[in-house]
Amino acid sequence: MCGIVAYLGHREALPIIIKGLKRLEYRGYDSAGVALLTPEKNLQIFKKSGKVADLEQAIDGSAKFASTGMGHTRWATHGAPNDVNAHPHLSQNGEFAIIHNGIIENYASLKQALKERGHEFKSETDTEVLIHLIEEVYQNNKVGFEEAVRMALTQVVGAYAIVILSKKDPNYLIGARKGSPMVVGVGEGEYFIASDATPIVEYTRNVVYLNDGEIVIVEGKNFTVKTIDNAIKTPYIHELEINLESIEKGGFDHFMMKEIYEQPRSIQDSFRGRIHTNEGLITMAGIDKFEDKLKNIKRIIIVGCGTSWHAGLVGEYLFEDFARIPVEVEYASEFRYRNPVIDEHDFVIAISQSGETADTLAALELAKQKGATIFGICNVVGSSIPRMTDAGAYTHAGPEIGVASTKAFTAQVTALILIALSIAKKKGTITTQRLRELLTELETIPAKVEETLKSNEYIKGIAAQFKNATNALYLGRGYGFPIALEGALKLKEISYIHAEGYPAAEMKHGPIALIDEEMPVVVIATQHSNYEKVISNIQEVRARKGKVIAISTKGDEHIKDHADYIIHIPQCEEAMLPLLATIPLQLLSYHIAVMRGCNVDQPRNLAKSVTVE
Ligand code: G6P
Repeated sequence: MCGIVAYLGHREALPIIIKGLKRLEYRGYDSAGVALLTPEKNLQIFKKSGKVADLEQAIDGSAKFASTGMGHTRWATHGAPNDVNAHPHLSQNGEFAIIHNGIIENYASLKQALKERGHEFKSETDTEVLIHLIEEVYQNNKVGFEEAVRMALTQVVGAYAIVILSKKDPNYLIGARKGSPMVVGVGEGEYFIASDATPIVEYTRNVVYLNDGEIVIVEGKNFTVKTIDNAIKTPYIHELEINLESIEKGGFDHFMMKEIYEQPRSIQDSFRGRIHTNEGLITMAGIDKFEDKLKNIKRIIIVGCGTSWHAGLVGEYLFEDFARIPVEVEYASEFRYRNPVIDEHDFVIAISQSGETADTLAALELAKQKGATIFGICNVVGSSIPRMTDAGAYTHAGPEIGVASTKAFTAQVTALILIALSIAKKKGTITTQRLRELLTELETIPAKVEETLKSNEYIKGIAAQFKNATNALYLGRGYGFPIALEGALKLKEISYIHAEGYPAAEMKHGPIALIDEEMPVVVIATQHSNYEKVISNIQEVRARKGKVIAISTKGDEHIKDHADYIIHIPQCEEAMLPLLATIPLQLLSYHIAVMRGCNVDQPRNLAKSVTVE
């Protein structure tokens, strides 16, 4: 969490930084701040609790021209989200300024020692401690700025992506990363440093992804990448594939709605070029590489957090159904602190939109140490997980800006369908004929998503009926169960209505006690293997006067007798159900949240990229 952006070049830094911060706001929006260093070495700091727009208003023309500067948008960890705790932070003498994404775990002991040596702190943050430390190292050791940063970082335990500037030299910026992402944009005589590429793409397509333990030194028109131990690295310049339109709202009121509507295309992008329906073939380089291992694999472990964990649950059904491999799906945050039994025979898949989630990274690290083969399913190209795994598959959903995940989920599920079917083919647990049928079906899914989206206005009407609910229950069985979990998560995260997802039959063991005439119960009741059973569960809800909203298969007349509201989705193979049934639940949450006046793209207390544990 937290977004950082810095600029050094020939343009005015402030507008670039403000725009960049707005693009990074998905990473946190508790406060924002900028530091601008004028050619006359005048360091100006502006910071404000609240959104980047509040900061912009506070600055309101009062900044002097500077072509060097940096900005930060915060997701608070240490200290309340107020003006004082907002970044940038200054060193004791005000010579150095820092912005930081991550957590300095040993900040308390460092702070104590610095206090004993006379340092005074203005904020409660861990970040301020680091910049005091850098200044102290600089003064005590009579070393240069860069050397001081490297020496100070050796004393630090924790995760960071930092940018530091010094009043002494407006032509100098230093960035460093360990555990938190950092991208360097290399323009024509200008440089950008940011948490991801979105603030950069407007100005240059050439970027360097900094690795853990590396620092970047920008000095005038040159830049150098080094390790923290001062070894010079040859930076690899990547060409960005994202375009500007993909990170703007494109006429929609919110990114979330834009991203919901992008799903026909993002699902297609996720399977494009990978399936060869006539031949009954799937090509995925990352999977093909492990053909021999996968043929004999005894177990797959899937790790993830939030929505990605829900995709993992869908993966469990897929791998078991098609590839006949037992699967365990684990919350990354739990897995990493257990003593899990894993060895070199295991195949561990991490699912992550951002590729940066701290717990998922740590879980993978653990699996790697224990000798497992580690595989990533990620959306953000060049992020940390794809760079640490043995192999992987990008989901190709394009940038997802709305904090609540939508198109990234369906793209993850698409990738999992392909992986499960590909392994099944290699193992011989699926016939070519059946594989062809499934791939043919997959090719129809984008059009079916399109058709499902046509229910938007109808769903908006249902949302109006339930916008004042205080609780909601989501039920499903089989593939419908992870969908229920995901539907409930969507509602609670953006509308702040308490919602729970449950396996429909488990309702009897607790949630049924909550049902009354006020309670909306969303049920995935499509005509698949558990249809009759789900109908029985609906009866149990109705007997307690709960209001049933059924997600049902188009053409199902029978459901009319059981549900108060029916949202039809096109008929589909059961394995593809999550790709369709999730769509109306995303729309329902979206409309309820908008009607309640919530900020759907930036729900309170949340951040999209959770880079702290
Ligand atoms: C946060 C986001 C969720 C996301 C989860 C995992 O909670 O708000 O949308 O599902 O992190 O993130 P990842 O990037 O690993 O998929």
